[in-house]
Amino acid sequence: MNIAGTNHRAIEPISSLQHVKILDQTKLPHTVEWRVLTSIHDVAEAISVMRVRGAPLIGASAAFGLFFGVRDNASDEGLQKAYDLLFATRPTAVNLRWGLDRVRLAIEALAPEQRATAAWLEACRVSDEDVAANEALGRNGLDLLRNLTRRTDRLEIMTHCNAGWLATVDWGTALAPIYKAHDSGVAIHVWVSETRPRGQGSALTCWELKEHGVPHTLIADNNAGHLLQRGLVDACIVGADRVSSRGDVANKIGTYMKALAAKAHDVPFFVAMPFSTIDWNVEDGIKDIPIEQRDAKEVTHLAGLPVAPVGTSARNDAFDVTPSTLVTAFITERGVFTPKELSTFCPW
Ligand code: MRU
Repeated sequence: MNIAGTNHRAIEPISSLQHVKILDQTKLPHTVEWRVLTSIHDVAEAISVMRVRGAPLIGASAAFGLFFGVRDNASDEGLQKAYDLLFATRPTAVNLRWGLDRVRLAIEALAPEQRATAAWLEACRVSDEDVAANEALGRNGLDLLRNLTRRTDRLEIMTHCNAGWLATVDWGTALAPIYKAHDSGVAIHVWVSETRPRGQGSALTCWELKEHGVPHTLIADNNAGHLLQRGLVDACIVGADRVSSRGDVANKIGTYMKALAAKAHDVPFFVAMPFSTIDWNVEDGIKDIPIEQRDAKEVTHLAGLPVAPVGTSARNDAFDVTPSTLVTAFITERGVFTPKELSTFCPW
């Protein structure tokens, strides 16, 4: 990722100390603040309060978190306790489980004294593989965008939430094809919805698009249907927190409404994600993907100030599920697939 012209990752291992450095996303867009995490509790806190967020970044952070846990207690019991602590931090993004399973599988057959070193190496691998997967899906998405450019002078893409560098170790998912397109000279402009209640669109996506120099315009969430109806959007591209085996997509609250409006106006709706975001154990995403409920205060308040009468009750579903029938195609590191094609990869 490109911050003031310098390349970074959203999580960076400090190998000499076996610590990690994260960009604290609760401080953006106004302050760029790096934070060093040195314990499992630091990682669990960073995931829970969303200093790190976005499904792939949660997975990579959890992998390092499990290293810290095992460094402090490498027994079978210690490993299980560390796994459970991290697993409880956020329920919807399946990459969390994926990152933890990768590390657990790499170390559980080893003697306790060998586990910490192996866990560190596996967490670094998880991190590197996320970068490679997102870079590859960016390339696959670029081909798709190039086809769309044949119909228009400047490509108009709508996204939701933040599925860019900040949501992954690097590159992003929904934004990876956009960066690739912009870098290769395709004229492209992004409609960014603010993504209330937490504002990942306004605070994070606008910030990273600006750092990279990609033209973009911020809209209120309620503006999306209007733009789609007026023909001002060539395609929607969003990320995912969990994709079921039949292609239902859990993503940030508000994604479903955009998918419905896109369908109504014949605008293609793409979901970009690495395979680590697929949960082959869940078929019916609407029924079986757990939806995180967050603090009502995120809805009743904005930047710490109340926007509703004191005592107003509020509901805060952090994610919704878009049925596979509304998804045109998935952009992945292995290629671009319709929901039906994607389901053929199911290992069982
Ligand atoms: O609650 P968040 O900010 O972690 O939600 C993030 C999203 O919904 C992203 O769209 C999703 O994780 C895909 S990230 C590449």
